[in-house]
Amino acid sequence: MQIEKAIVRIHERVAGDYRELVLDAPATAGAARPGQFVHLRVPRLDGSVLRRPFSIYRARDARLSILYKSVGRGTRAMESIAVGDTVDMIGPLGNGFPLEGIGENPALVAGGYGVAPLSFLAGEVDVRGTVFIGGATARDILCVGDFESLGWTVRITTEDGSLGAKGLVTAALDVWMAEQQGASPVHYACGPDGMLRAVGERAVAAGHTAWLSLDKHMGCGVGACLACVQKIRGEDGSVSWKRVCKDGPVFDASVIEWDA
Ligand SMILES: Cc1cc2nc3c(=O)[nH]c(=O)nc-3n(C[C@H](O)[C@H](O)[C@H](O)COP(=O)(O)OP(=O)(O)OC[C@H]3O[C@@H](n4cnc5c(N)ncnc54)[C@H](O)[C@@H]3O)c2cc1C
Ligand code: FES
Repeated sequence: MQIEKAIVRIHERVAGDYRELVLDAPATAGAARPGQFVHLRVPRLDGSVLRRPFSIYRARDARLSILYKSVGRGTRAMESIAVGDTVDMIGPLGNGFPLEGIGENPALVAGGYGVAPLSFLAGEVDVRGTVFIGGATARDILCVGDFESLGWTVRITTEDGSLGAKGLVTAALDVWMAEQQGASPVHYACGPDGMLRAVGERAVAAGHTAWLSLDKHMGCGVGACLACVQKIRGEDGSVSWKRVCKDGPVFDASVIEWDA
């Protein structure tokens, strides 16, 4: 983990409210693993909490990119970042997805910008499997070409039916899980809490392993402020708080204690 002054090389809209920011960041890019994130200081943003966390989307040849959606003050301010600007970045942060036990035919489940770390993962492993991408509308479905060009099977769902099957991503996952007939595929998921919880509960009920990348508001991003804690169940059944930025953001679904 280091602080790096990254130079912006490309900044473009990829779909709807989503943009890709490509940076020259050799130190961070060289050390990045799928599921890790960077903490960016948003240029020209006044206020107390100046950094925002973003999953690493690509890390190759000294370049690193993120895929972000404008949802508030920080991400709207990021829209004005120009090619040639310098961005102050801490990273790579967090544990990343465990890839050793990935096995045959894994399932990747993404909601919205959750495709970013899963696209990175898909390009870093030798196996191929199925990617489930869900969103509210067609404008939230990203990176399909990334996965297909790597040889992954893509199943798309949108809540309004504007692309792929109409409904939630978990409905498509249910169909696929029923087809697995005794296999125990590993699941990797990133997206909104409701989706993560639903994916995790299905996987745990089926006896499958699921790795979920949690999305929590962050302060420091490096384990010092406790702004990002999540309840986690230990092997003895006791519950403790873990820091999503430092102990996560990826956790085994079977140990996450979701709020009621
Ligand atoms: C590990 C990690 C990886 C992330 N990766 C990405 C990514 O690849 N691409 C991307 O676009 N975003 C990602 N995010 C979320 C991103 O950090 C937030 O969208 C961003 O901080 C919002 O800042 P803002 O100032 O624009 O919004 P704010 O003004 O702070 O908030 C705007 C709205 O978004 C909600 N919000 C803000 N942050 C979060 C959050 N973390 N989780 C849920 N709701 C939130 C607020 O409640 C509010 O309703 C990630 C978050 C984490 C923790
Ligand atoms: S954001 Fe400060 S401890 Fe996680």
